[in-house]
Parts: sequence; C-alpha cells; structure tokens
Amino acid sequence: MPPAGGRSTEVGSPGMIEALRAIVGSAQVLTDDIATYAIDARKKYFGKPLAVVKPGNTAEVAAVVTLCAAHGVAVVPQGGNTGLVGGGVPDESGTQLIINLSRMNRVLEVDPQNNTMTVEAGCILQNLQETAATHGRLFPLSLGAEGSCEIGGNISTNAGGVQVLRYGNTRELVLGLEVVLPSGQVWNGLRGLRKDNTGYDLKQLFIGAEGTLGIVTAAVLKLFPLPTATQTAFMALGSPAKALDLLTLMKGRLGERVTAFELVSDFALSLVEKHVPPFVSPFAERHPWYVLCDLADGRDAQALAADLEAALAAALEGELITDAVLAKSEAESQRLWKMREDITWAQVREGRNVKHDVSIPISKIPQFHAAAHAALEAAYPGVRPVVFGHVGDGNLHYNVAHPTATHSEDEWVGREWESVSRIVHDCAARFNGSISAEHGLGRMKREEIRRYKSEVELSMMRAIKAALDPAGLMNPGKVL
Ligand code: FAD
Ligand code: MLT
Ligand code: ZN
Repeated sequence: MPPAGGRSTEVGSPGMIEALRAIVGSAQVLTDDIATYAIDARKKYFGKPLAVVKPGNTAEVAAVVTLCAAHGVAVVPQGGNTGLVGGGVPDESGTQLIINLSRMNRVLEVDPQNNTMTVEAGCILQNLQETAATHGRLFPLSLGAEGSCEIGGNISTNAGGVQVLRYGNTRELVLGLEVVLPSGQVWNGLRGLRKDNTGYDLKQLFIGAEGTLGIVTAAVLKLFPLPTATQTAFMALGSPAKALDLLTLMKGRLGERVTAFELVSDFALSLVEKHVPPFVSPFAERHPWYVLCDLADGRDAQALAADLEAALAAALEGELITDAVLAKSEAESQRLWKMREDITWAQVREGRNVKHDVSIPISKIPQFHAAAHAALEAAYPGVRPVVFGHVGDGNLHYNVAHPTATHSEDEWVGREWESVSRIVHDCAARFNGSISAEHGLGRMKREEIRRYKSEVELSMMRAIKAALDPAGLMNPGKVL
C-alpha cells in the first residue's frame, strides 16, 4: 500500500498523524494522555512518543509500517507493556511511533486434534490459557504478568516463567508466526507443523528479537493435554545446594510430572509477608530457603499424591529438606503461588533494588550464589540480596537491595546500579552464564551485553538486523 500521507509528510507533522488516522481511524491514533504507554512497568524508562497507534488487523499494521518506512519514522512495537528492560517504550525524542497491538486480540482457530491454536498477537496470555482449557487443552506459558502481558510480547521476549522446566520457553511453544517486516511486507508463516525442514527456521529469528526485526501479528501455538491431577508442595531447606539435590531427587522419582520448581530466599518471603498481607509463611519457624514445586499428571490424583509424599519422605530422610507443606486445595495452591508472584511487587514496596535475571548451568548455582554474595558483601557491606527464581532452569533473579529499608535509599540504587550489576554479571559470566535468562536486553542491557558477547556473535546479530531492517527503524536503541 502506498503511504497515505504522501512523501512530503514530516515526522510529527499533522500530515503524518492524518495519514495514520486514514489507515486505522481517528479513534485509534492517540496523541493526548499517552503517558502510560511511554513508561515501562518498573517506571525506570520514561519515553516521549510521537503518537500511539492501535491497529485492528494485520493489513493495518502493514499499512502503518509501510507509511513509517516511507517517511523514516521509527516504530516501537508494544504489547501489554509489562516488559522489565524498557524494550517496549520509545526514547525521549518525540519522533518514535508506538504501535500497540492490544486491539488484535482474537483467537482465530483452536485445533484440538493438531493440538494448536492460532491467535492474534494482542491476546492476553491468561485469556489464551483459559481458551485452551475450554477445549480440554493446556497452554503452559505462565508468569506473574499473565493477566496483562500479550502473546506477541511473550513471543518477542521469548518469555520464560514458571513452567519452563516441563514445557520449555516460549520458543518451544510456537509452531508458526505471521510478521510484518520493517519494509511493511507481511510474512505469513502460520504453519501448525511439528516437522518442517525446508531451509532456515525463520520464525526463530523473531522469537526473542524484542521487536527489532518486525512486528509479530499472529502465531500458531502448541497445546498440551490438560492435566487431570495436580499437587503443590512448599518445602523448607538450608541452602541452594540442597535445592539442587532436591531437584535431582524429585525429577528422579517423579520425572516429567515436576512442572515448576522455584527457589525463594527467606528474605524474599519476608518481604511478601511485610508488604502483601495477609500472607504469612505456613511454617512455624524461619528457614533460610524454600522451594515451591508443582506437579501435574494425566492419571489419577491419589497416585500422584502418594508418589509426592514418598518423594518428600525421602527428601526429609536424606536431610535435603527440613520441613514441607502440601497444598490441600486449589485455593491453598493459589495462595502459595500468589506469594511467589508477589515477590516482584513486595520488592517495589520495600524500595528500589538493582534487578538481575541471570542464568547459570544448574549445577553451578551454589558456587555462583556464594561468589556473588561474597563479592557484593565486600563492595557493599550489609547489602541485602533478594534471591528467588526459576532454579529448575538455572535462572535466578538475584536482586540487590540497599542495607537499609527506606525509600530514601532509592538514590543509592540509581547511583550504584551499574557497579552492582557488574559484580553480579561478572560472576554469572565466570560460570558461563547469561546476563539475561528471560527478560531480554531491551534498553537496559544493550550496552552491558557488549562486555559478555563475542564480537563474532554481535556481528552476526548486526548482520541479521541490517538484512531485515536496513534503515534501522524497527525498535531502534534496543538489543543492539
Ligand atoms: P511488552 O512489554 O509490551 O514488550 C516487550 C518487548 O517485546 C518490547 O521490546 C516490545 O517492543 C516487543 N513487542 C511487544 N509486542 C510485540 C509484537 N507483537 N511484535 C514485535 N515485538 C513486540 N518475564 C518472563 O520471561 N518470566 C517471568 O516470570 C516474568 N514475570 C513477570 C512478572 C511481573 C510481575 C512482571 C511485571 C513482568 C514479568 N515478566 C516476566 C516480564 C514480562 O511480563 C515479559 O517479558 C512479557 O513477555 C512481556 O509481554 P508484554 O506483552 O507485556 O510485552
Ligand atoms: C519473576 O520470575 O517473578 C519475574 O521474572 C519478575 C521479576 O523478576 O521481578
Ligand atoms: Zn522470572
């Protein structure tokens, strides 16, 4: 489609806005009261968009991107804006256009026999989980922001969450994609195939690209049988090393039925108790660490419960855990999972902290933890690590809070962010880890990654970016 406004249209000019209105309708081009679209979930990045456009279908996305390409206007794709690295917000120049996908929220097809569903990018994750369930299927992607993040954002960040252990990252859950390329061309790769060796697997380029290579407009997602039995166990233990031994024991005895295995430090738990009442620990005593574990099975519930109880007895006997509680109802399980998901918000209420999202080979987690703790303590005596995360995937959110708990220390976080991160990231690198397991690079880690990726790897990434987006208009300033 030719640019609706003609080539004379200037960035930010009334002509550009009029041209956008001609494509999506006046009501879907927002220029006033758009601050919420321009601030990230953690309120770390404050951008200034040219406007926010909300297309209703793929053809409109393509027409908007074509217009922007013709006029050299940079675009920032945006889903639920729950990202934690500033990837979905524009810079402060006032020249970047947010293309928000939220109106594209239709489930296009559910195919229970193929175990797939085809959905638009703006579908909210929780709605997709519910849609799958109404067809007797499971869409297993699950994370704290699932009530507001969108599948296009999940795909673009290759989101992880709490069930990666059993079902994999978003990358493993996508069979096909539709993408609007930076040129405005539409690539229809909406194939529901589990086998397709016809050259490069192009969809993988866009998964985890954080909107820098194109705009995901639809996807074919993998579905799984809905479990008929589930169990939740909350276990107390002495150290991250014990948690790994426990993971080995649980996987050995229960196999793939272990779907989630999350580590929670006592400090993280105490923050939830302090800031998100009425939650209180189910244990009478404090313990240094806890693991929250979910099990799921397609067979009968009693057998699963018996196998879990036997595994816990073995863990107690082997002194891997010091105490355990089993959720006796769905409500109890939800209460424990809410505690886990509330850690993010409990930290916010405690005051700012330097957030990390590292991954390490699982076997090296105890050494990483000890090394990071020692290095931080040496540099910042009394510093308070808030450690929790997806330990079953080797992914820790090793966050760092100031020694004292007052918001007046927020300034410390701003000032020391880079040097605190340097300590934690260098420790992760020492154990062959990654500085971003699941949140992505966005704006936050764009510079930092240059320290940890080889020039060979970075230049391959730049070559891919240049091939697909030679003008550099697709989410500039992010990732690379
Ligand atoms: P946005 O924030 O809108 O965008 C994220 C990135 O994707 C941006 O770079 C944006 O430009 C790009 N993008 C968005 N939509 C598209 C599209 N259609 N096409 C191309 N690019 C696009 N993340 C995890 O991985 N695991 C967790 O456990 C987890 N827990 C969280 C808990 C809380 C409480 C919060 C606030 C966040 C959490 N996150 C987690 C981070 C966040 O929810 C994920 O990164 C999520 O996948 C982002 O989805 P979104 O729709 O909000 O994307
Ligand atoms: C989580 O696992 O809870 C998320 O990744 C969010 C966070 O790190 O705060
Ligand atoms: Zn996480």
